[in-house]
Amino acid sequence: MGVSILSIFYLFAAVTYILGLKMLSKPSTARAGNLIAAGGMIIAIFGTIFLYEDHGKKLGNYGWIFSAIAIGIVIGTVTAKKIKMTAMPELVSFFNGMGGACASLISIVEFDYLVRAGNPAETYFSDVAHPGHYLAIIAGTIIGSVSFAGSMIAWGKLNGSIKDIVFKGQHLVNMVVLLLLLGLSIYTYHSPTAQVRILFYSTVALALIYGVFFVMPIGGADMPVVISLLNSFTGVAAACGGFLYNNKAMLTGGILVGAAGTLLTVLMCQAMNRSLVNVLIGNFGGGQSKAVAGGKGPQGSVKEISVSDAAMVMGYSKKVMIVPGYGLAVAQAQHTCHDLEKALDERGVEVKYAIHPVAGRMPGHMNVLLAEADVSYDKLLEMDQANQEFKDTDVVLVLGANDVVNPAAKNDPSSPIYGMPVLEVEQAKTVIVNKRSMKPGYAGIENELFFHPKTSMLFGDAKKVLQELLQELKNA
Ligand code: TAP
Repeated sequence: MGVSILSIFYLFAAVTYILGLKMLSKPSTARAGNLIAAGGMIIAIFGTIFLYEDHGKKLGNYGWIFSAIAIGIVIGTVTAKKIKMTAMPELVSFFNGMGGACASLISIVEFDYLVRAGNPAETYFSDVAHPGHYLAIIAGTIIGSVSFAGSMIAWGKLNGSIKDIVFKGQHLVNMVVLLLLLGLSIYTYHSPTAQVRILFYSTVALALIYGVFFVMPIGGADMPVVISLLNSFTGVAAACGGFLYNNKAMLTGGILVGAAGTLLTVLMCQAMNRSLVNVLIGNFGGGQSKAVAGGKGPQGSVKEISVSDAAMVMGYSKKVMIVPGYGLAVAQAQHTCHDLEKALDERGVEVKYAIHPVAGRMPGHMNVLLAEADVSYDKLLEMDQANQEFKDTDVVLVLGANDVVNPAAKNDPSSPIYGMPVLEVEQAKTVIVNKRSMKPGYAGIENELFFHPKTSMLFGDAKKVLQELLQELKNA
């Protein structure tokens, strides 16, 4: 009886994951989608704790289980509340690493259980483990461990505590480690149970080393793509756990995470017009890339504009398009940006936002940032729509964006970002670019937009500049 109710709980949980994922695709429903999927997960967890039975025996160990849950809730809640928006990718990486570790530990426990079931002296591990069962165990262990170690390195790189380490022949070394890992996995299965433990734990160690080596050479700024890829690894590792325990909720959840992570990785690569291989071995935006890495050199002088002139130009225009970028997130200027939008709106100026799919450092970064400041969703234009509207726009205000408005992506085949779709802001009548200096952005390359005859630079921290613009508009 208990089991059948539990199956219904799992089915219900699986439906909430799918529904939640679907709702996450729109900013207006994302929050509710997250809550619905979390609700389903809670039902699956508590259903397992109280209803699961093995040979008529309930789980027990409630003290341990609830202590762990309580500790997890406290750490998770405090961390999520304290984290800054700019540090969100590193938090995602950390949480993903924990997921990978859990998936790996589940498989390790299952392995240990099987070894104890065998006779250490005479039996071979293949005698006690069905090939499919072993495949689920070893895949869960390896993929989960790689995801854990890789995510921890990505986390360290994003918070600046780990530097990019690249040495000659590193990719070859990685291939050798990977082949060794696969060879050892096969050998372990056919080994006597007396020595199987040492072989298996060597595989775990090698998988952890591979996770470190895999992420180490990848350019620090490519971490969001890597995190998304590692996220899909964690999903697959969790799905292996679902196979092991014949747990439908875990299986569905793992498959959905695996598929969503893979799709997101592909979409991010497409939006940057780069292949996954280029991301994994390109060291793009990494320690090696310097300003003007590829692309054209310095291109003449730039024109500056004062805050009062910028306020006047915007205040007397019909249509202003704001292009937010990573710098807006760094400055935490989203609220002031919304205030400027309202001030312009009150003067009868139409204001919209042009959102590039990879503006910022994580998928949907700008949408989340602007939603936090209560900017209306219908003011946000996707790239294709914005590109159609620039020609009818009087002023484009670029706020801490750089690569996503770099025309070199369209007209300089030697540029590392050549082929990446960009916002064609130079089609507007006037372009005002706010940033603090002439330093390059993520790709480490010069931006010819800053030297364009239509462009004026408005140097300074985005928040400070926006506050001054607002003041000027109020005084006008
Ligand atoms: P970036 O090209 O990185 O440019 C951001 C600019 O903001 C910098 O040039 C910086 O110039 C300026 N800035 C920094 N702090 C500022 C502040 N306090 N006030 C004003 N300006 C400030 O950013 P983007 O245009 O948003 O492009 C995103 C890049 O990240 C793309 O190359 C994309 O491929 C990459 N990327 C994105 C993702 C996702 S999913 N979003 C994933 C992986 C990679 P100063 O230092 O001179 O101020």
